[in-house]
Amino acid sequence: MVKSDPLMTSPKKVLVTSALPYANGQIHLGHLVEYIQTDIFVRFQKLIGNTCVYICADDTHGTPIMLSAKARGITPEELITQIHQEHIDDFKAFGIEFSHYGSTNIDENRVLSELIYTRAKDAGAIYAKEIEQLYDPEANMFLPDRFVKGTCPTCKAVDQYGDSCEKCGSTYSPKDLINPVSAVSGQTPIIKPSEHYFFKLSDFESFLKDFITNGKLKPELKNKLREWFDAGLKDWDISRDAPYFGFKIPGTQDKYFYVWLDAPVGYIANAQAWGKQNNITIDELWNGDYEIHHFIGKDILYFHALFWPAMLKVSQFKLPDYIHVHGFLTINGEKMSKSRGTFITAKAYLEHLNPEFLRYYYAAKLSDTVEDVDLNLTDFVNRVNADVVNKLINIGSRLASILVKKCDATIATLTPEGEALISNIKAQSDTIKSLYTSLETHKAMRVIMELADQTNQFIDTKAPWDQVKTDPLAAAQTASAGLTALKHLTTYLKPVIPNIAQGVETFLNIQPLTWDSLQSDLVAGHKVNAYQHLATRLDLDVVKKIAFCETIH
Ligand code: 2FM
Ligand code: ZN
Repeated sequence: MVKSDPLMTSPKKVLVTSALPYANGQIHLGHLVEYIQTDIFVRFQKLIGNTCVYICADDTHGTPIMLSAKARGITPEELITQIHQEHIDDFKAFGIEFSHYGSTNIDENRVLSELIYTRAKDAGAIYAKEIEQLYDPEANMFLPDRFVKGTCPTCKAVDQYGDSCEKCGSTYSPKDLINPVSAVSGQTPIIKPSEHYFFKLSDFESFLKDFITNGKLKPELKNKLREWFDAGLKDWDISRDAPYFGFKIPGTQDKYFYVWLDAPVGYIANAQAWGKQNNITIDELWNGDYEIHHFIGKDILYFHALFWPAMLKVSQFKLPDYIHVHGFLTINGEKMSKSRGTFITAKAYLEHLNPEFLRYYYAAKLSDTVEDVDLNLTDFVNRVNADVVNKLINIGSRLASILVKKCDATIATLTPEGEALISNIKAQSDTIKSLYTSLETHKAMRVIMELADQTNQFIDTKAPWDQVKTDPLAAAQTASAGLTALKHLTTYLKPVIPNIAQGVETFLNIQPLTWDSLQSDLVAGHKVNAYQHLATRLDLDVVKKIAFCETIH
């Protein structure tokens, strides 16, 4: 069934973002759920002829990055430069095709953060208030909640963070922690007052209620958001005291924007940076006719569904059109864990395995819901081998040995049965398009693999390896139908496995496939190239090497 969907109207312009990863850690398989989901969406947009700009950047500011640099004996600038290159390399290896991968520590972001803040202030949405916080007298700094540990005031469990207890789940103020200790110096913190700036989120309640109910978020998320509204929207502390790695707040001596203020502004700033290189103004890009899509994980919904739209609204920037929210990654049904050896970095994966296989597996699991995605290592091997290798790639390798070796590598006219196979494959194009559009990639993969099954059944029934002995033309016709099917199946799968798709294009000796290529079949007389191996089957013993790997940090 083809759903009617406003996104289906082509061609159009789309601006897409993924959440900005922090610049103090390696990319891991959990991150990749989001970047692969987004990249598939972006590649699909381009495949169907839309203009699509994909923006991302490192999220560079904040106390953890400042302290991480200090611990390594380098400046924060040095740290974020080093990590930037690592992130770029990892994303490239997984085929994540950003239009621009920048940083939040750029002038455009400073200027825009100041502008948005100033507009919010002028609109009366910012106020100053003195608050008390834990302060480390040795390190001379205020302590973020995660940098203080002590005994839970509720259940008395020791060694709990300053904001919540992992044992009993209660949340509290760090000031209530019993026997608090600074994670920076190991000293007992003192309580110290400081003036902070707050964003009046509570003033935006009716605007936000309206924002989240007008189709920008999936209805299933509304319950979570309703809970937040029911609890009452809390005003948001957007300032931090020096020392802090970030942007100074205009008109202050020693106050900085909290990292979560300038991070989402980084979406606009980096779009602007891309625009400068491509002669497109930010007014055209952000405030113009580009449809804006954010992809995020469910853990940062509060920031994107509440703070961010309120900031955009008060500063007169366009609001996002869609916020797509995914769940977490589990490995063999459990949270990724360093101690269990299942905290798998992108680099550890790449040492042993083909990135296209992870892309396919995630695509086969991902939906438009916030349900977690489980990477079960045995299922991963079985699924990839069954679908990508046995169903798809085998069409090419089996038929190449007939057509290339025995039939002069030349496509023959299809029989009516061959024609029927192809028209059946093409008949699913609107369904598949609609499923990609609505991010139901698991369903899209299922439909495509059913078509691959039909193709393999057709080949098995015709048995061209027998036909070729007595009737070479019939064998060529079977192989030609199968390879034309491969062409169209590859078009469908191109957003997911772009490298394998490129290998098929080379083998079939055709131009890069687009959605429009579905209109044209391989024509009689066309010559294909010699078959080059497209991918190697997964082996569970090799897959196991990515867990419990030396490179895990
Ligand atoms: O949660 C995170 O990893 C953040 N660095 C995401 C920031 S997304 C955006 F707002 F910049
Ligand atoms: Zn507790």
